[in-house]
Amino acid sequence: MRHREKGEVQLRILFETGNSGKLKEVQALFRGLGHEVVQLKDEYPEVQADTLEEVVEAGLRWLWDKHYVPIMIDDSGLFINGLKGFPGVYSAYVYRTLACPGILKQMEGVTDRTAEFRCCAGYVDAAGRTTLRSGVCPGSIIGEMRGSGGFGYDPIFLPDGESLTFAELDLGRKNVISHRGRAFSALARAISEE
Ligand code: IMP
Repeated sequence: MRHREKGEVQLRILFETGNSGKLKEVQALFRGLGHEVVQLKDEYPEVQADTLEEVVEAGLRWLWDKHYVPIMIDDSGLFINGLKGFPGVYSAYVYRTLACPGILKQMEGVTDRTAEFRCCAGYVDAAGRTTLRSGVCPGSIIGEMRGSGGFGYDPIFLPDGESLTFAELDLGRKNVISHRGRAFSALARAISEE
């Protein structure tokens, strides 16, 4: 059996994203497994769909038809129970328009503050076959913004079992418990087994 030399990269994988926060998280996670993640900036058109999985499948197909090389992407969202799952698949649009203060305003008077982050991570391989893996992180929406790390809704999301918000946790800990960390860990296992 061949052992990996220290520092040797096993796989170099393209990750299409314009979000530097996501890129840092996914690079750190794959680095820990000996793989290198390289950013590809080529925003694919997001289809209107009810699930993250449909968005990822369509995005991978679009990128494959253009580049014909293996690529990873993800789609994610914050689903707040007391707001009937809002902003859900509209999380990116809602973040651009309302951001964290807008969500806190929507939550005024709402008693059920439980929520979950969901992520679907996808990979299209050299033969055009797609592999999708999903991850969930349950938690709750706190009453104010806390922390300066991370990105997006991190300052208002307290993961279950933690006393720090996503924006207060270090990246390594966020990767262990987060929706994205879980989805990409499972995806990395699936890719390595190919
Ligand atoms: P998309 O996956 O790029 O469509 O992002 C969906 C929206 O959810 C964006 O506004 C992100 O900022 C937000 N989002 C996704 N993942 C996270 C996360 O890990 N922390 C905070 N916000 C997130």
